[in-house]
Amino acid sequence: MNPREILVTSALPYANGSIHLGHLVEYIQTDIWVRFQKMQGHTVHYVCADDTHGTPVMLRAEQEGITPETLIAKVHGEHLDDFARFHIAFDNYHTTHSPETRRHSEDIYARLKSAGLIVARSIDQLYDPLKQMFLPDRFIKGECPKCGARDQYGDNCEACGSAYAPTDLKNPYSVLSGATPVRRSSEHFFFRLSDDRCIDFLRGWTGSGTLQPEAANKIREWLGTTGDDTLSDWDISRDAPYFGFEIPDAPGKYFYVWLDAPVGYMGSFDNLCARAGLDFDRFWKRGATTELYHFIGKDILYFHALFWPAMLEYAGFRTPTAIFAHGFLTVNGEKMSKSRGTFITARSYLEQGLNPEWLRYYYAAKLNGSMEDIDLSLEDFVARVNADLIGKYVNIASRCAGFIVKRFDGTLAGVEADDPDVCRAFDCRSGDGAGHGRNSGEIGRDYENRDFGRAIRRIMAIADTANQYVNDQAPWNLAKDDARTRELHHACSVAINLFRYLTVLLKPILPRLAADVEAFLRIPPLTWDDAETLLPQGHRIGEYRHLMTRIDPKQVAAMIEANKPVPQPVQHRDKTDAPSTATDTRIETISIDEFSRIELRVARIVRAEQVAGADKLLRLTLDTGTECPRTVFAGIRSAYSPEQLEGRLTILVANLAPRSMKFGVSEGMVLAAGGQEGGPYLLAPDEGAQPGMKVR
Ligand code: MSP
Ligand code: ZN
Repeated sequence: MNPREILVTSALPYANGSIHLGHLVEYIQTDIWVRFQKMQGHTVHYVCADDTHGTPVMLRAEQEGITPETLIAKVHGEHLDDFARFHIAFDNYHTTHSPETRRHSEDIYARLKSAGLIVARSIDQLYDPLKQMFLPDRFIKGECPKCGARDQYGDNCEACGSAYAPTDLKNPYSVLSGATPVRRSSEHFFFRLSDDRCIDFLRGWTGSGTLQPEAANKIREWLGTTGDDTLSDWDISRDAPYFGFEIPDAPGKYFYVWLDAPVGYMGSFDNLCARAGLDFDRFWKRGATTELYHFIGKDILYFHALFWPAMLEYAGFRTPTAIFAHGFLTVNGEKMSKSRGTFITARSYLEQGLNPEWLRYYYAAKLNGSMEDIDLSLEDFVARVNADLIGKYVNIASRCAGFIVKRFDGTLAGVEADDPDVCRAFDCRSGDGAGHGRNSGEIGRDYENRDFGRAIRRIMAIADTANQYVNDQAPWNLAKDDARTRELHHACSVAINLFRYLTVLLKPILPRLAADVEAFLRIPPLTWDDAETLLPQGHRIGEYRHLMTRIDPKQVAAMIEANKPVPQPVQHRDKTDAPSTATDTRIETISIDEFSRIELRVARIVRAEQVAGADKLLRLTLDTGTECPRTVFAGIRSAYSPEQLEGRLTILVANLAPRSMKFGVSEGMVLAAGGQEGGPYLLAPDEGAQPGMKVR
């Protein structure tokens, strides 16, 4: 067998969120494949990184009152920790906010530019005059231009499903500030994907076996078959403020996050090369004969099967050998949902004491190398793991190892390669003559094709054979009869060898358990070639200790509870008759992070007016230190006349989502004290505070 040289990537998770069980489908799938290849003796480099750039990271850092660099460093640590605990064995886990990624992004951009594939064009976008920034589609809401549904995002309507441009929304508002966005034009850079060269190249590349059949079909739709109605040019720049790489010679313009994200694969690998003395060009230079695979979710196929290969091709690099796309995770047959508690973070899974290898096994059993979605049915998860891993696999060792240790001083009897029981499991008659039975050969092919479900079905069939053997021999009966000691020794030794065989086959999926088995059997790390070999006569194994416990369904239930949204703070005034007093202790605690998400600012009341038809409300016009005044409706008319308020300073909750009322939109909330004892009493800062100042 010729050793292959393979570079493998998983998609780079965004640095603005936690790893959840959906992500893990991908990292577990890739990790199993990589471990299998390494067990085969191939040279594999598995790299990944955090995807750190873009508006969401910038805004979250701002909300938390920290720099984006601090935020991404914190998240990097959390991601690494989560991955390590699920045994995802990256050879390098880097960040896109790195000198390597910057250098390669600039280089690729410069080469595309000199290939004549970058154009500058002015476009109109919605701009938030309060936040003073252009708004990505997801940060604009308004009424759907088709059906009129309220509070729809800038790109498509969740009520009627229609897609549109954010500039088509009726009564749009900025999700960030509540302000009405204005149209502004700005110069952007575009990658000319509509260029004939790109289209021709992509038609060829995507049709040449680089994609799964379903993926190739999808792409064919996107690419069209004729000259018109095909790809549009791709907008690859964003205006400041933005967290990313500033484009050389274009001050205030940044690379769009999706430009530098895939370049992060190169950046991470380059970083590994420097550390491990590898040759970067061997994997990236045009014409390289090494293999390059990207594992991704189906949602980002467009970027990986069109933009990325075109970027590589026209910047003079090699293109990927293949793209492996997987489907999406559903939980109990439905999309992951925060309110149902099925938006499960990696951390919460671990916190319930659930074993990461249970999930690895379950995902493997469900994965088949296609783009179909995979379902985590929680009941099935418990049943399947308990039945297969405990009931079948571990059971073989737990029923036989004790006899070897107690009766034979831990040493095994010699087992012949042509022993019929061993042969049945190995399926050696149809072996390939190199010591490989058909079983391990076929299972190897299943792993290669990412059809892990099929591999597991075969492995469990072997486990059934092994268990049947143990049942038939019934060592617990043989042990009662001193005349049958030899038979007992033989039966238990065959069983231990079969157990070792199953361990080889399961090792890519269960690396931790396999290491425990290696320690228990006192053998060096198992490779794929060990599959059909046998332990020699007299080999001494260690004491058997329980290898894996059963899943308790209570742990799963507790995990779901832990992922349900925290109940809103008790609203004494509206919901209950209980008096709300200063000594009320029924207050749930929040973290400082949660508190710092509330943006409190000093505001000056420049105008206060009565609202016709609302005898509790006053309409306040507030100066918050920006050019745009804000309107807030406050329920304080019973205690204040408009004249008393004008000119006063108060405190505004500045990032409260705007609320449409009968009288207009309220863009925040002013704070007042009150209760049964009286009020409301409007809050005011001490002398010296200025409109716009942050309260913290
Ligand atoms: N940052 C981009 C990828 C850039 S790659 C150059 C991104 N990040 S992500 O955090 O949203 O997703 C990371 C990977 O996890 C993607 O491949 C995505 O498809 C996958 N998954 C995220 N949620 C998923 C499920 N619910 N189910 C299965 N995979 C999912 O996209
Ligand atoms: Zn609609």
